[in-house]
Amino acid sequence: MRHLLEYVQPIIALLILGTPPIHPITASDLVTVQLMLAVGTAVIGSLQFGYNTGVINAPQAIIEEFYNETWYNRYSEYIPPNSLTSLWAISVSIFSVGGIFGSFSVGLFVNRLGRRNSLLVANILAFVAAALMGFSKLAASWEMLIIGRLVVGLYSGLSTGFVPMYVGEIAPTALRGALGTLHQLGIVIGILMAQIFGIESIMGNATLWPFLLGFTFIPALIQCALLPFCPESPRFLLINQNEESKAKTVLKKLRGTEDVGADIQEMKEESRQMMREKKVTILELFRSPLYRQPLLVAVMLQLSQQFSGINAVFYYSTSIFKKAGVSQPVYATIGAGVVNTVFTVVSLFIVERAGRRSLHLTGLMGMAVSAVCMTIAMALTEQVPALSYVSIVAIFVFVAFFEIGPGPIPWFIVAELFSQGPRPAAFAVAGFSNWTANFIVGMSFQYVEQLTGPYVFIIFTVLLLIFFVFTYFRVPETKGRTFDEISAGFRQNAEKYGPHDHSMLGADSQL
Ligand SMILES: *[C@@H]1O[C@H](CO)[C@@H](O)[C@H](O)[C@H]1NC(C)=O
Repeated sequence: MRHLLEYVQPIIALLILGTPPIHPITASDLVTVQLMLAVGTAVIGSLQFGYNTGVINAPQAIIEEFYNETWYNRYSEYIPPNSLTSLWAISVSIFSVGGIFGSFSVGLFVNRLGRRNSLLVANILAFVAAALMGFSKLAASWEMLIIGRLVVGLYSGLSTGFVPMYVGEIAPTALRGALGTLHQLGIVIGILMAQIFGIESIMGNATLWPFLLGFTFIPALIQCALLPFCPESPRFLLINQNEESKAKTVLKKLRGTEDVGADIQEMKEESRQMMREKKVTILELFRSPLYRQPLLVAVMLQLSQQFSGINAVFYYSTSIFKKAGVSQPVYATIGAGVVNTVFTVVSLFIVERAGRRSLHLTGLMGMAVSAVCMTIAMALTEQVPALSYVSIVAIFVFVAFFEIGPGPIPWFIVAELFSQGPRPAAFAVAGFSNWTANFIVGMSFQYVEQLTGPYVFIIFTVLLLIFFVFTYFRVPETKGRTFDEISAGFRQNAEKYGPHDHSMLGADSQL
């Protein structure tokens, strides 16, 4: 088996990274059973995030009926339509409030408990959330469902921090990029799973929907059963805990070889480099004129991801399709999930090779054009019923272009705009902007739709065009450039567009 892998791996690396691995494949780059087990177990966390993003889409009408009935039993009148809209908007979007807090708390866990144990402990939240949501019908309580969504959002915010970190730290250097992409793949497969389970004949019906929401329990259980067999991150053991012999033992198992000196050396070198550069706090990040431009770009790119309207699709597509006259809206939603998964894989192959900036521009423009088609199709669907097919195709294209640009690129660029010192703070700010924008879209979409009718996607079109213009003028190409080159570009830009930003010039020697 090992021989076969030695042939296959350079090919995988070549396909995914676009270039052969920097150093020749050695024994320590093998995908061992231990490594596969650890990565596979960790990405269950990504799957959970995706699942809970997509799970409230298909059964919306059915759960709304439950809210209506529960309201009737409590107050002896049917729920006023406005209250129903509010309750549902909160049920959908409170997930992102949990995400905000979760993503901010990652640092509290990983350096104390370790990466693996953080993953393990977070599952308590998944169990609590599954119980709250799963028993909400029995208890005739939409409050339980809403709190459950909050808790599972908290879990998701944490795991979007834990998983990439753990996977990045156990993967051999040459495979780090390739294995890192499994996090993204886990998310989209999770969304797709939720959409399929939401079919009426599976769990998307009035009797079984509590199981659909409570399903989160099962991946959590599997992850808890497997994590004890996964090693702690060797990097955590070596750098945070100073346990070199433990780190070596773990590495030997992960790499399937006795010779792990090079790995240990590399980690030590990396941590020495990190010590050299002082850690920048969030406050310093905002204060220093040095970071003003890159921070603006980082935040705007995160906003462009969420305000593109992608989560309007992942939260509400079934209801959107219904209004567009599609006869089997749940199947169209599943179609969107399939397109999403396929194009995530497609983008894995091109992201490493193409320029980030051009991919982002392509994605934004593609989404804007399909949003226009969507709007036209929805506006005319009463006169021409066949246009419902156009709206299905338009949403598929919308999702495909999302995965080409605004899906993956913002995270790439944040990592490439900031060096080691300010990077954690920059990621915290980026994560906060992302989840907050996610919340705003989830919360307000139905209200805006009530006001604008079929023209709701015009708002996203306008936003997409604004982000296109911003990206065109303000976002530098980061691929294959050093931090020095990128920040030099920002200084030129500042001179061209913002004469008041000259304070940056004085600080350039620090870069
Ligand atoms: C609540 O249920 C009743 C009876 O099925 C229905 O007539 C009413 O339209 C529902 N209300 C809403 C806001 O859906």
